[in-house]
Amino acid sequence: MASLTITPGRPLQGTISVPGDKSITHRAIILTALANGVSRVARYCRGEDCLNTMRAFQALGIRIDESDEELCVHGKGLWGLTEPNGPIDCGNSGTGIRLLTGLLAGQDFFTVLTGDESIRRRPMGRIVKPLREMGANIAGRKGGELAPLGVTGSRLRAITYTSPVSSAQIKSALLLAALFAEGTTRIAEPRLSRDHTERLFKFFSIGFRREGTTLIIDGRPAVGWNAVPQLVVPGDFSSAAFFIVGATIVSGSDVTIQQVGINPARTGLLDVLTRMGADIQLFNRHEEAGEPVADIRVKSARLCGVTIGADLIPQTIDEFPILCVAAAVAEGETVISGAEELRVKESDRIATVSAELCAMGAQITEKPDGMVVRGLGTAEKNGRLQAAHGRSHGDHRVAMSLAIAGLTASTPTVIDETACIETSFPAVHHALVELLTEHR
Ligand code: S3P
Repeated sequence: MASLTITPGRPLQGTISVPGDKSITHRAIILTALANGVSRVARYCRGEDCLNTMRAFQALGIRIDESDEELCVHGKGLWGLTEPNGPIDCGNSGTGIRLLTGLLAGQDFFTVLTGDESIRRRPMGRIVKPLREMGANIAGRKGGELAPLGVTGSRLRAITYTSPVSSAQIKSALLLAALFAEGTTRIAEPRLSRDHTERLFKFFSIGFRREGTTLIIDGRPAVGWNAVPQLVVPGDFSSAAFFIVGATIVSGSDVTIQQVGINPARTGLLDVLTRMGADIQLFNRHEEAGEPVADIRVKSARLCGVTIGADLIPQTIDEFPILCVAAAVAEGETVISGAEELRVKESDRIATVSAELCAMGAQITEKPDGMVVRGLGTAEKNGRLQAAHGRSHGDHRVAMSLAIAGLTASTPTVIDETACIETSFPAVHHALVELLTEHR
């Protein structure tokens, strides 16, 4: 089992880039596979999650040529997928398995979708229930609550559905199913979750409209959509987040992260950190694949605690592990509530982050829907955590958050079970070493 040793004592300085956005890469593979013709997906995320989605489409009869720089996807049109000859393994990816289930529910063949131990624990009922309302035939453990899922493709009909949770995975699974359904599907959610599917639909000119918070989409379009010569995936904000917090809390740091996606449905961390006192500037703003992109420069700054309620959760959802590291060294209390979704991520992030950071001296009280973090900082400077021997609990974002936490300690921190980092950011250690050594 891989482990990572973090040796603190230096500021983070220099310029780096991060892998392509994981959420957008999944969707780019899906929509280019369903397009007519050959598309190139550049700067895609080469993490295991997205590679599993790529392999899934290869198993579904799509030719995808892969190099380090780009994927060349030979799309076969809306109805071009064919039955795989074995189960599809989505690995650790909730996005992969949920979006594929929606897409495959309306095909005319049978598929089994499964994943690793963590995926087989995560809730699937949230997509299976509305998909069954559309007429999908899905079997699974515990009545379809848990993977593996067996999807017998069937003729779907449109529904009107209000999701009880703000989840881009639910919304996107239903949008993909709706493409194959008869009639007009309407999908609403309590608060806007990340809208990458909607933005890519626009990028490919796939018809849908929005009325207030409801998405409306007509199924079975007469003509599909065309391939694009090149789709450049923006850098992953959720990967940049580790360096944004790292540069903020390690004094003397000054880091620029190039070409990062700054979709407002993802960048709640910037709003929260700015309220906490962080020094963050965005420049070189432009657009890629219908998404706003910028370079992000972060200098170290003294932080104070804040209150984060339900209205900020969807746009910050993947950043809570690293946000807790910032809160742990800030001055004063940070209160996070309305974040119960954190309990059903790659790990129960309220429990795993609290346990691991408390072992490093943080003061965190778990709540059913969040946590209270009493920061170790003072009015003069941010506090410091203590080195510890931690573990990731199989969760890539917990592993990388502990690595950044370790930079504030005075002796090396060891983190076990770090193979999971491969799911999103295989080269994170390399990037960190680069920033720690660039100025020597
Ligand atoms: C994702 C949506 C979010 C996020 C996950 C990626 C996506 O999950 O936490 O990492 O790509 O759609 P939920 O839809 O469960 O909120």
